[in-house]
Amino acid sequence: MQKTFHRGEILHFPKRTDSPEQNYQYLNDGILVIEQGKIIDLLDADIFFQHHHIAQEQIETHSGLLIPGMIDSHVHYPQMEMIASYGRQLLEWLNDYTFPVETKYADSSYAALQADAFLRQLFAHGTTTASVFATVHPQSVDAFFTAAATYQARMICGKVLMDRHSPDNLRDTADSGYRESKDLLEKWHHHERALYAITPRFAPTSTPEQLALAGQLAQEYPDAFIQTHLSENTDEINWVKSLFPDAKDYLNVYERYGLVRDRALFGHGIHLEPREYQTLASNHSSVIFCPTSNLFIGSGLFPYFTVKEHGIPVAIASDVGGGTSLNLLVNQAEAYKILQLQHQNLNPFESLYLCTQGAAVAMQLEDQIGNLNPGTEADFIELDVNGIPPMLKQRMAQAKTLEEKLFALIMLADERVIRQTYVNGQQVYSRP
Ligand code: GUN
Ligand code: ZN
Repeated sequence: MQKTFHRGEILHFPKRTDSPEQNYQYLNDGILVIEQGKIIDLLDADIFFQHHHIAQEQIETHSGLLIPGMIDSHVHYPQMEMIASYGRQLLEWLNDYTFPVETKYADSSYAALQADAFLRQLFAHGTTTASVFATVHPQSVDAFFTAAATYQARMICGKVLMDRHSPDNLRDTADSGYRESKDLLEKWHHHERALYAITPRFAPTSTPEQLALAGQLAQEYPDAFIQTHLSENTDEINWVKSLFPDAKDYLNVYERYGLVRDRALFGHGIHLEPREYQTLASNHSSVIFCPTSNLFIGSGLFPYFTVKEHGIPVAIASDVGGGTSLNLLVNQAEAYKILQLQHQNLNPFESLYLCTQGAAVAMQLEDQIGNLNPGTEADFIELDVNGIPPMLKQRMAQAKTLEEKLFALIMLADERVIRQTYVNGQQVYSRP
């Protein structure tokens, strides 16, 4: 069987950890061995050459830093085209900008074009797996998974469930939403690298009947993902409390319907109450921190260390089009600033962990992705740490430690630092 060899500086987090700054693996000169889309070995070049006699021409040498492909655990593919829409906070932003764009995805050929364009943008921004909201239209999910299959990419996606408080042409019903989600789940979940996420948009746009059926579906498919939004904006929270007056808090709405469990990914979670932290932790659900979105839509400052102290898995995601960059390095830079505003520091190892192994842990996918351990899937990227942008190059020349380099990289990076992206062992992007 054909093996491929990639040589370079390599960094990853091999295991689940609360202290990524102490639990990384760094190879100054390492070799990644790939066969049939899997990583089969990762070792020091010196050791490799003691045991293997491989001609230099057979080895792809990378001058940049090899890391696992980044994982965007919360993003909306149809919103790519309305990123950077001015002057609104969450509820008006949804009505004025988001919903009108999402209506276009009733057209499956339009959805197919946009899905492919979105995937190519993800790869160009260094992301190889994403948990993706489509629209209410089942064809928007078919379009997405069909496009993802052409790259053999590990992708999670789901049809948005939304049966109230939204435009007529963007609503399903409790029954149709359940049936369409179930059909899509049967068709795509575990089909090659596709995984399905049951996707109620958020509590205000689903009736109790719809949430109950979403919970029933979740019970029928215990290893399916669940993705939704939680406690992002104070007007949203007050609205949820008025719509569900019997609920103890926002999370309790989802909890009542069996939607707080393993593999449930709650976007935002900025303004949670103590009971909500405990419930998320005891039910093994994850919270997704979306830095550029939280700043851009003016939602608030995510209390990362409080969430972490409760033992809730966290990942950093883009939430495009609320977020303003698909690049998870840029999102890490904004995460750092959000914690500075709370007089706390997020170290660069930890923020990189939250977009790689930590995100995989939050999604219970660390046996497949998020690290470069032998046996996992060969999704990785090369970062051009000494090239463009010029400011980064100059700053790097001054950096003395790996930590300092990584921090400068994160703070100064944009998508130009992504030189190559590999999915399932194959190159899917190379910087022009
Ligand atoms: N809450 C409900 N829908 C959305 C959405 O599309 N984006 C964000 N950021 N929050 C939401
Ligand atoms: Zn979102």
